[in-house]
Amino acid sequence: MGTAVTMDKLVALCKNRGIIFPGSEIYGGMGNTWDYGPVGVEIKNNVKRVWWKRFVQESDNSFGVDAAILMNSRVWEASGHTTSFSDPKMDCKKCKTRHRADNLIEMHSKGKVDPDLMTNEEMEQYIREKEVHCPICGGFDWTNIRTFNLMFETSRGVTDESQNKIYLRPETAQGEFINFLNVQRTTRAKVPFGIAQIGKAFRNEITPGNFIFRTIEFEQMEHQWFCKEGTDSQFYEEYKARAMQFLLDLGIKREHLRFHDHEKLAHYAKAACDIQYLYPMGWSELNGIHNRTDYDLSRHQEYSGKSLTYVDPIDGSRYLPYVIEYSIGADRLMLALLAEAYEEETLEGGDVRGVMRFHPAIAAYKAAVLPLQKNIAEPAKALLQKLKKKFSVSYDEAGSIGKRYRRQDEIGTPFCITTDFETLENGTVTVRERDSMQQLRLPMDEIEAFLAEKTAF
Ligand code: GAP
Repeated sequence: MGTAVTMDKLVALCKNRGIIFPGSEIYGGMGNTWDYGPVGVEIKNNVKRVWWKRFVQESDNSFGVDAAILMNSRVWEASGHTTSFSDPKMDCKKCKTRHRADNLIEMHSKGKVDPDLMTNEEMEQYIREKEVHCPICGGFDWTNIRTFNLMFETSRGVTDESQNKIYLRPETAQGEFINFLNVQRTTRAKVPFGIAQIGKAFRNEITPGNFIFRTIEFEQMEHQWFCKEGTDSQFYEEYKARAMQFLLDLGIKREHLRFHDHEKLAHYAKAACDIQYLYPMGWSELNGIHNRTDYDLSRHQEYSGKSLTYVDPIDGSRYLPYVIEYSIGADRLMLALLAEAYEEETLEGGDVRGVMRFHPAIAAYKAAVLPLQKNIAEPAKALLQKLKKKFSVSYDEAGSIGKRYRRQDEIGTPFCITTDFETLENGTVTVRERDSMQQLRLPMDEIEAFLAEKTAF
């Protein structure tokens, strides 16, 4: 974060710059849903693209899937989600709002107390003893903690009698686990190998309203690495390092990131940690890396009755692989990148410019083409048509060139390309760089190669 940015500021600028709008806004909104606008959808697509490039395309032995969102309900019984995917909730009896007990404790203790280490009784006791008040009405009259399953239910079937309860998936991971043998068989991959997926997940979350940090519909980018027991700890460390390097390569400062080891592990997990980011509201989880042992494959084997055993082609040994899971929310990463990129820079002479210093690979538009004078727009339009075939490019001919530069700075466009009378004479254009505001003159036919080099990830 160049300039300390508040969440309110980020929400407002995202709305004003076509990055993210409140969901269902003209109907008064719908809590915890957000719509990506023309600039935001480009950024988010880039986020997903660079993740896929790093963890599938450039990774040895990693393969992608795109599994169905709606799955056989037995999947969620096997995974444990139908019985234990719930949050501890308390109702304020005064204003009738519902809250997560763990969130109340985190907010009250400003992150110093970790509610993950507490039982429900301990959380109730903390809230009563410390007199944690309702953040909405200020009241102090709580119900006891009750647990609610976070999965959204729907039903399938044509007639009322034939309706079966099904769920919107709360994570993409299960689509990777249940396709383990399909992927292994069709790719002829040998363990260790990985299966990755990017897709929507849904959770009936109550959140304290931290913008796109925690929403009821979000996208996950998940990667499961299947490996032999005994090699798992080494791969766990490797994925921690790879996950961190990815964030650093996107331009996030190391001092805004930290590892957070889980002290309380799920019963099947051997090790688990998050990478946290210093969001405007404080340190919070950005992604998770888990050593899930052979729990997932053994549960699906048990519940489906189908063998998921891997047979080693070299030594003929048969086993269920361990899984190292690396999971990151595309929206949550987007929030970190927005917060990290935001800067209000004071220029010589006292002017302040708002600039989003995105990594060029993430920026919505790789360049903006700006004819200096409207009446000599032809070369600019020709350049635009050429560049559009390779990159997402913006075009603007309205207003002073200074204002047009500022508009592009505000959405993080890394390069502005200006055509002028000289372009007509010798075919060169001015390229202005967003961060330094330095300008250089280049032949028009070198721009494509210039952008390809400067915006690569
Ligand atoms: N398969 C493992 C899994 O789903 P998780 O910690 O519940 O683990 C993984 O979720 C990541 O998904 C989180 O680190 C976060 O980036 C993102 N995520 C989870 N719940 C989210 C929500 N309600 N809104 C936005 N992102 C969420």
